[in-house]
Amino acid sequence: MVYEIEALGDEATREIAAAQDLEALERVRVRYLGRKSRLRALSRQMADLSEDERREMGQILNRTRGRIEALLEKRQRELEAVASDAVLMAERVDVTLPGRAPRIGRRHPLLAILDEMIDVLLGLGFQVAEGPEIETHYYSFPALNYPEWHPAMDEQMTFYVSNNILLRSQTSTVQIRSMEKQEPPVRIIVPGRCFRRDTVDATHSHTFYQLEGLLVDEGITFADLKGTMALFVRELFGEDMKVRFRPDFFPFTEPSAEVALTCLLCKGAGCRVCKNTGWLEIWGAGMVDPNVLCNVGYDPEKYTGWAFGGGVDRLAMLRYGIDDIRLLYTGDMRFLQQF
Ligand code: PHE
Repeated sequence: MVYEIEALGDEATREIAAAQDLEALERVRVRYLGRKSRLRALSRQMADLSEDERREMGQILNRTRGRIEALLEKRQRELEAVASDAVLMAERVDVTLPGRAPRIGRRHPLLAILDEMIDVLLGLGFQVAEGPEIETHYYSFPALNYPEWHPAMDEQMTFYVSNNILLRSQTSTVQIRSMEKQEPPVRIIVPGRCFRRDTVDATHSHTFYQLEGLLVDEGITFADLKGTMALFVRELFGEDMKVRFRPDFFPFTEPSAEVALTCLLCKGAGCRVCKNTGWLEIWGAGMVDPNVLCNVGYDPEKYTGWAFGGGVDRLAMLRYGIDDIRLLYTGDMRFLQQF
């Protein structure tokens, strides 16, 4: 019996050392110390021994059990350390890896320059107004004093949704909508998308942006228009910028003007972009036609006003060196990420 107990102790010692993980170790513990273990069986057999033998066997059994327990505990601590190391290794964060930068959006070149323009005009006391991109015939033409035969109403020039509904071809429609909603003084700017049936090429897009301005109050003159436009281009593009006014025609302004600014590329010296004139014709403008004031219920004897409006795309293209207007509308990330 003594021999068997010692042999069990040695066997357990070997198996404990060989256990490679906590589960294996638990199996060893059950085998050697559990209720169905050989050691338990032996201690039950002690009942048949004499008192002296029982004491001796008891001591040997206890010693062996103590030895196995101590070894189990030691091995358990070893294996736990290994396991937590493994967890740590698995959860390890390599702080030396280069980071993954989040993709940060940028301002679209069109909206960037539009924002700059709006900023300047807000500083002059204008407020931003908006109107629908899908418009009625009335706001598009009759309210703006277009005669019935005007070619802008032609289907060749304007996108019609139905007889009476169309995609606005200019932000001037919002002049009417804004004046209808309030009494003078009116000081608004209207940034917005417009649509025309142009054949698309490097300088034409069926969708484009305009910025409109409208000022109506008592005693407003053409001089105010000139001064405002001159300040506008100086604030936007620099102190030596100039504006040039030449006679033009629009149904909703009288007199009307075509407004040009110093060529952004050659600063007025003459280049291919300005066709050697030194000027870029960007805006239409003029004194609000009395008929338009009447259409919105204003008294043209009391109030006068002026309006200007024009494309934003061409200015964005010149400012950012973009040579094809289509790039502004394709949403191509390779293009947009350059700005
Ligand atoms: N709406 C005109 C255009 O698109 C420009 C304009 C605006 C002219 C305001 C006069 C006054 O050409």
